[in-house]
Amino acid sequence: MTILITGATGKIVQHLIPSLLEQGQSVRAMVRSPDKEVALGKQGAGTVIASFEDPGALDKAFASVETLLLVTPPHKHATGWASAGLAAAKRAGIKRIVRISALLAGPDGPSDNNRLHGRTDDELRACGIASVILRPHFLCRTCWRTCLP
Ligand SMILES: NC(=O)c1ccc[n+]([C@@H]2O[C@H](COP(=O)([O-])OP(=O)(O)OC[C@H]3O[C@@H](n4cnc5c(N)ncnc54)[C@H](OP(=O)(O)O)[C@@H]3O)[C@@H](O)[C@H]2O)c1
Repeated sequence: MTILITGATGKIVQHLIPSLLEQGQSVRAMVRSPDKEVALGKQGAGTVIASFEDPGALDKAFASVETLLLVTPPHKHATGWASAGLAAAKRAGIKRIVRISALLAGPDGPSDNNRLHGRTDDELRACGIASVILRPHFLCRTCWRTCLP
């Protein structure tokens, strides 16, 4: 069973992919450009090139996958990009989604990023696909643990 992973070159997922590969999981990492495929391929991950801004490429990336790790960038367009990802997941018949959100996501969240995450979390809950939403705190850039209280 292949896990499709978006945000594959980002701060969080670049640490997750080696761990999944060590566990013997089959990983398809979605990246935006060919130069980003090399390092992931050396680790043993499958790769596919797509952007949240290209529905046709998303359809190719999401084909024949049952599990999606949906990671969007912290960006003002993240909600729209997540919607595009969820629409592609529905078209592809994806069965389960794990999403990286953020602590305090919601309409009253303390930052734009928290509020955008809250909108996507609501959209995911309503989309009809089984899902788990993870809401991490800030991850320390040195040790990658959630070391704030
Ligand atoms: N880092 C933290 O401490 C932390 C804590 C809590 C929650 N979060 C949340 O976790 C998520 C990921 O955070 P991060 O720090 O790992 O982000 P990041 O390092 O900025 O990585 C973002 C990823 O998204 C990709 N991306 C950007 N625009 C895209 C597009 N249009 N289509 C497809 N992929 C695109 C980037 O690819 P390229 O390499 O091509 O740019 C990169 O792989 C965010 O939603 C953030 O709010 C992060």
